[in-house]
This record gives sequence, C-alpha cells and structure tokens, in this order.
Amino acid sequence: MPLDIVVGTQWGDEGKGRFVDLLAAQVDYVARFNGGDNAGHTVSVGQQTFKLHLVPSGVIQPHTIGVIGNGVVVNPAVLLNEIEILADAGIHISPKRLRLSHAAHIISPAHLALDQAQETARGKTKIGTTLRGIGPAYTSKVSRQGLRLVDMLDLDKFKHAVQVHVKEINQQLTNLYQVEPLNPQIVSEELCHHASQISPYIADISALLSGALLSGRRVLAEGAQGTLLDLDHGTYPFVTSSNPTAGGALTGLGLGVGFTERVIGVTKSFQTRVGSGPFPTELEGNLAQRLRGTGENPWDEFGTTTGRPRRVGWLDLVLLRYAIRVNGLTELALTKLDILTGFDQIYICTGYRIGEQLINELPYGPSDLSGFEPIYEELSGWQEDVRSVRRWEDLPLSARAYILRIEELSSVPVRLISVGPEREQVVEIT
Ligand code: GDP
Ligand code: IMO
Ligand code: MG
Repeated sequence: MPLDIVVGTQWGDEGKGRFVDLLAAQVDYVARFNGGDNAGHTVSVGQQTFKLHLVPSGVIQPHTIGVIGNGVVVNPAVLLNEIEILADAGIHISPKRLRLSHAAHIISPAHLALDQAQETARGKTKIGTTLRGIGPAYTSKVSRQGLRLVDMLDLDKFKHAVQVHVKEINQQLTNLYQVEPLNPQIVSEELCHHASQISPYIADISALLSGALLSGRRVLAEGAQGTLLDLDHGTYPFVTSSNPTAGGALTGLGLGVGFTERVIGVTKSFQTRVGSGPFPTELEGNLAQRLRGTGENPWDEFGTTTGRPRRVGWLDLVLLRYAIRVNGLTELALTKLDILTGFDQIYICTGYRIGEQLINELPYGPSDLSGFEPIYEELSGWQEDVRSVRRWEDLPLSARAYILRIEELSSVPVRLISVGPEREQVVEIT
C-alpha cells in the first residue's frame, strides 16, 4: 500500500520541503499532517524559491493535490495569504488542488496574543516559540474548547462560537498576563470573513486519502518540525505542541497503519536548532560560523519563518538512532553535504559521557540532556566542490566514508543525498 511518510529527524529545518518536492513527482497527493505556520519549508526550482508554511511543499509539482490533515492547526489569514503569494508565483491553488480537513483546528488572533503573552511571562525560561499561536491552538484542541474548520460551514453558530472563544482567552490574557483583551466582535467578523473563502476547500480527508490509497493512488505525508521537537518524544519542554513523528502522520490524516511503505527521515549533515533547549553537540566560534553561514546565501542557517540565526553543531548519532527508533525509519535522506566541503576534519557524536559512564543510548529519551558530554569520532574532510555531483561514485572518497559511517552507526540506508538547494542537486542511491 503506497503511503510514504517524510519526517525530520532533528530539530526541524532539515530540508524536508526540498525532498517532499522531489518525491512529489511520483505521487498523486501530498498531505501535511502536523503543526501549522510555524513550519517554513523551502523549495528551489530554477529561478524560483518558494517558502511554504501551511500549503504542502508538493503542490509545486503541478499534477499533485495538496491536503491539510486534521493534525494541522490552520491560521485562515495565513493560509489565504499563502495561496495569494503562490498565485503571484504562478502556482494556482483552487479547491481542486487543495483540500482541508474538516477536523483541523483553527488558530485565531486570540491564540497569537496568548502565545506572545506566555512567552513574555516565561522570561529567561522561554521556549523561543515562533509566536504563531501554535501551543495555544493545540491547548484549545486538547481542552476540547477549540474551533474547527467544519465549524465555519455554519456561519451563525461559528460567529457565536468565536466570540465565546475570544472571551475565554481574554480571561487568561487579562487575569494571568495583564495584557489587553481582544475585541470578540472584531475577531469574529474577521474569521467569518475568512470562512466564506475557506469553506469550499473543506473535505473529509480521511475518506479522501483512504479511498485514493485503496484505488492504488500514491500519497506522500509531509511532516513539519522534527522528531526532537515532538511533544511526546522530543526535548520536552523545549518542543512544539504536535507529533511530527511518523505515528503523527497516521493520526494527523486519519489513516490506518497498513498503508505505509517508506518512512523517510530527512537528516541534515550536521545538527541545527532554533529556539531554546538542550543541544549536546552545539558549537560556538569560528566552526559554528562556518556551518551557519553569514546570511548571505538563502540556505544559510537563519530561520525560514522567523529569520533567527540557528544554533549549529556536529551530527549526533545518539539522537539520530533515537529518531530512527521512534519513527521506524526505512531510510535516510541526507541534506546539505555541500556545506561540509572545506573542513579538514569532520566529527560525528557516537555516544555520551556522563560522569564515569559511557552510553550510546539515552536512559529517558532526550528530555534532559544536561550533563551529557558528547564523545566524538573524527573523520577526514574533503576539499572538492560537490555541488555538481549526481552519482555516488563521483563523490569525494572522504564524503563517501562520512556517509557510509552514518549508515554503519545507524543501521539504516542513506538513499538520497542533497548537494545544494536546487531540485536536481541530488545523488540518488539505488
Ligand atoms: P525544512 O523546514 O525541513 O523544509 O527546511 P528549511 O527549508 O527550513 O531549511 C532548509 C534550507 O536548506 C533551505 O534554505 C533549503 O533551500 C536549503 N537546502 C536544502 N537542501 C540543501 C542542500 O543540500 N544544500 C544547501 N546548500 N542548501 C540546502
Ligand atoms: P520546520 O517545519 C525549526 C521550534 C521553535 C521553538 C519550538 C516551539 O520548518 O522544520 P512553536 O512555535 O512550534 O510553539 O515553537 O519549536 N520550531 C521549529 N524549529 N523548524 C520548524 O519547522 C519549527 N517549528 C517550530 O523555534 O523552538
Ligand atoms: Mg523549516
């Protein structure tokens, strides 16, 4: 049964968008299953670069149908704006090309205000959220007070429900955080205005995708964020509020387990993170600057959504093996190999030292990584420019040794390697 799932194995921004775009060439549906517009997925095709936040990256391939599943939280204003931006770039999204789950929850302006207020109140212990209202929207969902896209289909009821919702969040804004409340009337009018534009896109996604899979169509599930930002399996509490791991694809799209074929873990050739939280292999100084870049190139390590400089470090195989386990990965897709060109030595973290003890598996997952000191293996770097390489045998020997060592330490094959941001800058290993 042909459902393939793409997930990030690190803290997001691994390059999922570029591989989803590539793999979308061979599928009928591309379905986002978690997160919201905290995601920023970059796709470069020829002269054009697309930055997608909510619309699945696969829609750049003109034959696909994009799907937003029930596991996603949707800010209607952001979605409509993204559809407009895509239209300006020549990608025309109509209800024929994009379907939204009736059960997806709505991010309202009240959720945005609450995200900001909560982060401000956290002070030094802030999570460093994207301030897109993600946590508060999932909180509304879990506390069974959320607004869903299906509610937009009955405007009279929706209008009232939005007002109740804003009044409830206002209680928190004013009483807990001492910030200005929102005007329920204005928020309700704004969301009702969007409702008329969103309604034609709403569908039962579980029925749509299950039917498609049963009739032999191919579906690609696109994860946002990464395994280490997973609410259950990540570096809690420095995580997002959804499940970016493979299980989240099934609950986030309403699909049974039997459909899955490939589970592809997109992994950057080094480690990056934006926002707070533990990062055992984090680098500072010159080495960090070389990995991060200066911001001159579009692929330098500055957030797609927030523009914040990303923290950088060497690849962590303890965390990668963990990601392989919690996702059941069948293969790895490695990105940004070109960025490692020019280093004399490259390092991989193969285990940790904690006091006198050496470990290569975390006792309680990655929540508390304080006190874990990385143990590194040193590998030779390479000086050759790899950006025009398209075949495994044309990669420098040291680059191949690096990839083979990753395979050896992780016991999962690397099937795709990207050597630049462009769609065709890929080495496929068959
Ligand atoms: P995503 O959130 O996982 O989709 O990743 P982002 O799009 O946020 O970040 C990945 C960045 O790296 C984007 O700017 C991509 O264009 C860029 N990128 C992806 N693969 C490669 C690669 O192999 N080499 C280089 N230089 N850039 C890449
Ligand atoms: P893509 O899909 C990288 C991070 C935020 C913060 C934490 C919680 O592009 O890989 P949130 O706004 O979700 O409540 O923030 O999660 N974060 C991401 N980091 N890439 C992302 O998405 C991210 N989405 C959220 O920086 O640390
Ligand atoms: Mg990103």
